Amino acid sequence: MKPAVIILAAGMGTRMESELPKVLHKVGSTPLLIHTIQTALDIDAQKIIIVAGHGAELVRDVALDYNQKAEVVIQSEQLGTAHAVDQAREALKGFDGDVFVLYGDTPFIDADILTKMSGARTDGASIVVLGFETKIPSSYGRLILKSDGNLDAIIEAKDADKDQKNINFCNSGVICAPRKLLFELINEIDNTNANNEYYLTDIVKLARKRNLDCTTVHCPKENAMGINSRVELAEAEAYFQKTTRTKMMLNGATLVDPETVWFAFDTVVGRDVTIEQNVIFGPNTTVETGAYIRAFSHIEGAHISTGAIVGPYARLRPGAELANNSKVGNFCEVKNAQVGEGAKINHLSYVGDATIGYNANIGAGTITCNYDGVSKHRTEIGERAFIGSNTALVAPVRIGNDAMTGAGSVISKNIPDGALGLGRARQKIKEGFALKILNKLKNAKIATNKD
Ligand code: UD1
Ligand code: CA
Repeated sequence: MKPAVIILAAGMGTRMESELPKVLHKVGSTPLLIHTIQTALDIDAQKIIIVAGHGAELVRDVALDYNQKAEVVIQSEQLGTAHAVDQAREALKGFDGDVFVLYGDTPFIDADILTKMSGARTDGASIVVLGFETKIPSSYGRLILKSDGNLDAIIEAKDADKDQKNINFCNSGVICAPRKLLFELINEIDNTNANNEYYLTDIVKLARKRNLDCTTVHCPKENAMGINSRVELAEAEAYFQKTTRTKMMLNGATLVDPETVWFAFDTVVGRDVTIEQNVIFGPNTTVETGAYIRAFSHIEGAHISTGAIVGPYARLRPGAELANNSKVGNFCEVKNAQVGEGAKINHLSYVGDATIGYNANIGAGTITCNYDGVSKHRTEIGERAFIGSNTALVAPVRIGNDAMTGAGSVISKNIPDGALGLGRARQKIKEGFALKILNKLKNAKIATNKD
């Protein structure tokens, strides 16, 4: 039976010094909470219950927008982690499987770790706690083991005696237990401790009283990293980027200078993609096999197909779809536009709300004038069309297949297939005029100096 997941996310996150709920701060351009929801989805959780409090409305919007499976319950007063879990009691009524408790501010717990914990449950432990070793256990709960290696209790740092404080094996916060037992034990928890809080960690000692086996599963301390301040947020970002770069390279992408490439949580990169220095990916981008991203490009919400070349210094914004072997070169911005197979936008252009046909060539400095101050309008450019340099395309407008525009044109009327559109002042030649004007200006200057 697939497990349920409860994600604790009600805390204020005081140390973030922020108006935004802590779990909505971002790592990899994605709210912390989403990282945890994705882990729950990765293990195919039957139910995902988010316990929200501070900023609950915002938390709900973000969670549901990401996945409709998420349910939000409210903890209006934060009385401790056991009290938080208790808020999911109603939502899990009738559910008969295992429950994982995860935190919304601990984004690097992955499906492999949870699967290992499920394994420990199958092996007979009633409660499984995820622990990690650290040289600086500071404020973490300490895991107290019995001589047989099983778990006997979790002692919070504030309640620990000197010997217990020296223990380096700490509670990550992640716990797995069967639903029925979990809520039975929570009923027995009181708040007589240093914090006057209802500690979820007390379920271990209560289970031991019933002679039930509790055990631990280890994970690296980085995976258990919880975020409480902006300093820790930056540390988490660094860890996320480091592991993501490694993953991308192991999957077959070349990163010329890995440390300078920044990925989002959901960036997808195919094999034999090369990414040069200083490239930044925002959310929702796919780069297909064999595409080439040159230095200093900023890319979000884009789909880059096989053989496409982007940059250097390109900006792809949401809705940029680059077909096979297309090119978007230096100082070009593309937004909400389909760039056809083999089409080229090589220099200094803005292409927004547009469709560009197969093998079309967009000259340097071309601008789609897509916004009239009120609404956005589309520009359609046909196959093999040739847009002359410095053309302003005033949308809505259509340039036909095999059509052309003259350099420097302002094009506000459709151009039929195969036609040339010119929208610029006709050039005149006035013989000798340049010299005449120069002499006139010089004489005027001499006259003024004499005054
Ligand atoms: C908790 C654990 C500790 C563990 C540590 C790991 C308990 C009693 N202690 O301590 O053993 O080492 O996490 O990081 O469980 N929350 C709510 N509602 C509440 C209280 C907390 O939603 O009423 C949420 C917080 O937003 C946070 C998480 O639960 O995401 C953990 O709460 P926090 O108060 O930070 O617990 P710690 O003292 O860090
Ligand atoms: Ca904490």
